Amino acid sequence: MKKIARLDYPINHLSQNRWSPRAFDSKPVEKEKLRSIFEAARWSASAYNDQPWRFLVAFRGDENYEKIFQTLVVFNKNWAAKAPVLILNCYQTQFKHNGTTHTTAQYDLGQAVANYSLEALNQGLYVHQMTGFDAGLANNLFGFGNQTNAFSVSALGYLGNPTELIEDLMKLETSERQRLSQNEFLLNEF
Ligand SMILES: Cc1cc2nc3c(=O)[nH]c(=O)nc-3n(C[C@H](O)[C@H](O)[C@H](O)COP(=O)(O)O)c2cc1C
Repeated sequence: MKKIARLDYPINHLSQNRWSPRAFDSKPVEKEKLRSIFEAARWSASAYNDQPWRFLVAFRGDENYEKIFQTLVVFNKNWAAKAPVLILNCYQTQFKHNGTTHTTAQYDLGQAVANYSLEALNQGLYVHQMTGFDAGLANNLFGFGNQTNAFSVSALGYLGNPTELIEDLMKLETSERQRLSQNEFLLNEF
């Protein structure tokens, strides 16, 4: 299923075609494709080139997957269980160069996740980000200490069949994507 954005102005193919599915096929994801996905994250911009993103990659059936899955809120458990890969998106809490509190780590992590989401699509895969999870529990389960914080979870995999979702989610899955117009978020006119 494609959910191509209805554009007001032309953009690149990946940004136009990216969307966040909830129906995933359980087919495993090739490790080489995951490497390409994290290569795109690797080359993201970050303040001081500090690269504070950290990722814990879990495969359906392994112990890490179970740990991440148990941190999800019920709403997300309802659809994410079939995703072949769950990624715990984390950040470093201190700048490397001076050990002070990292003031842009979440922003930098977000860029890395955005970049890997587009590369995923380039590899024929889809990403669905979630902050509906218990970050404190994830930190505890993985024994992160105070240097590393979990921030979000991504489900990743090939598209599945929307009819396998519960009814409310199926409606969301097949409905048109909505966005503000540029006039609503541009703070000045040009
Ligand atoms: C930071 C963040 C947190 C999100 N958390 C959730 C979540 O917990 N559960 C969920 O189903 N979707 C979640 N989403 C997905 C958004 O609902 C989705 O990106 C948005 O509706 C736009 O849809 P699109 O990505 O298909 O364009 C999250 C997205 C982001 C960026």
